Amino acid sequence: MVGKFPDGFIWGVATASYQIEGSPLADGAGMSIWHTFSHTPGNIKNGDTGDIACDHYKRYKEDVELMKELGVKGYRFSISWPRIFPKGSGEINQKGLDFYNRLIDELLSKDIIPFITIYHWDLPFELQLKGGWANRDIADRFAEYSKVLFENFGDRVKHWITLNEPWVVAFVGHLFGIHAPGMKDIFVTFHVVHNLLRAHAKAVEVFRNTVTDGKIGITLNNTAVTPASDSPEDKLAAETMHQMNNYPLFLNPIFKGNYPDRVLENARQFLPENFEEDLPEIQKSIDFVGINYYSGSLVKYDPESPMMKIKVVPRDLPKTEMGWEIEPEGFYRILKGVHDEYSPKEIYVTENGAAFDDTVEDGKVHDENRIDYLRKHFEQALRAIEDGVRLKGYFVWSLLDNFEWAEGYSKRFGLVYVDYPTQGRILKDSAKWYKDVIKNNGF
Ligand code: FCB
Repeated sequence: MVGKFPDGFIWGVATASYQIEGSPLADGAGMSIWHTFSHTPGNIKNGDTGDIACDHYKRYKEDVELMKELGVKGYRFSISWPRIFPKGSGEINQKGLDFYNRLIDELLSKDIIPFITIYHWDLPFELQLKGGWANRDIADRFAEYSKVLFENFGDRVKHWITLNEPWVVAFVGHLFGIHAPGMKDIFVTFHVVHNLLRAHAKAVEVFRNTVTDGKIGITLNNTAVTPASDSPEDKLAAETMHQMNNYPLFLNPIFKGNYPDRVLENARQFLPENFEEDLPEIQKSIDFVGINYYSGSLVKYDPESPMMKIKVVPRDLPKTEMGWEIEPEGFYRILKGVHDEYSPKEIYVTENGAAFDDTVEDGKVHDENRIDYLRKHFEQALRAIEDGVRLKGYFVWSLLDNFEWAEGYSKRFGLVYVDYPTQGRILKDSAKWYKDVIKNNGF
């Protein structure tokens, strides 16, 4: 398949603050929950932390230069909340704002459109001490923080994402205990889901009054779910998993004013008392939906399974280094599903990419597997566009190899290889291939 994307399509790359910046406490920044979590022994593979990461806080100019070299049109990055509010709220740290001002100006000077993610998981530790996302008050703290960003950057930044993958924040951080803050409590998990939605909505409201010529959306993680058989039980299990883990959990409240059926059926008891009263405020119009997609899962009904009687069954599909099954066709179903079910004005793929076991040979990284992965997903994105999906841009995860959360530095997602001991950067073959895709607006 050979394909051309629509004119003006925004090809980009994505990163997140804690994963690339390093210098987490520089210039007056406060600790984030990822700082404390990664410094707690046993939480991260090999005891890795984000203390240095890609040293991007110091090397941001060089990294913007790399983006220029690739010809990217857009760059999605996140702001570290505790750099701006070291204590989570109250006093503002000007030096934190200065860093992002420098980064934004550098991007604009190279004609790269900045897309800001307001929250990509590095909550100020001080707020965690007050209950973090489980405390209702967090929604106002988030709105206060967002307002400062809109006021300081909104003159130059017109594309905003409130939250990155709120499902992961709630479940992986508060039920599975694998991410910060490392809790395991289903009630807390659903209070967090609800407060993330409230926080998102409050930020959108502030945005409408501060950046009148910008667009704002939310980014959601997705796994394409397929029922293991045609049995009604397996189909229902697959539908439950889809509504619980994918875009419906958040888009249903945002677009339709209530949680999806299967969520209410299975989890109503875990939500805060009187959660219904907040739903009208949550149903607030957004300008776009951000979709992250990596993988698919085959799902069956399993009466023995503690989690909603759902079980994921492994398939004989090729996998990435994360062990994630490669299912490009599922990407099409997710994109088409969002469009058909909620009809957002615009959709952006805010993350897609793959970790592979890259090796450097004579100063080069021959990552054919990543090129193949990306090409297959680009094809499905184009198919979605041809079928009417209003997809406006695509951000590859990631610009650089970086700190992959609980996996530390053991997983490499970058188009650019990072040699951590020297902080050298090497364009992988996939980066060179992507450069051509961007230049030709297709492949
Ligand atoms: C997503 C995260 C991103 C990155 C990729 C691999 O869940 O948003 O930060 O770690 O997975």
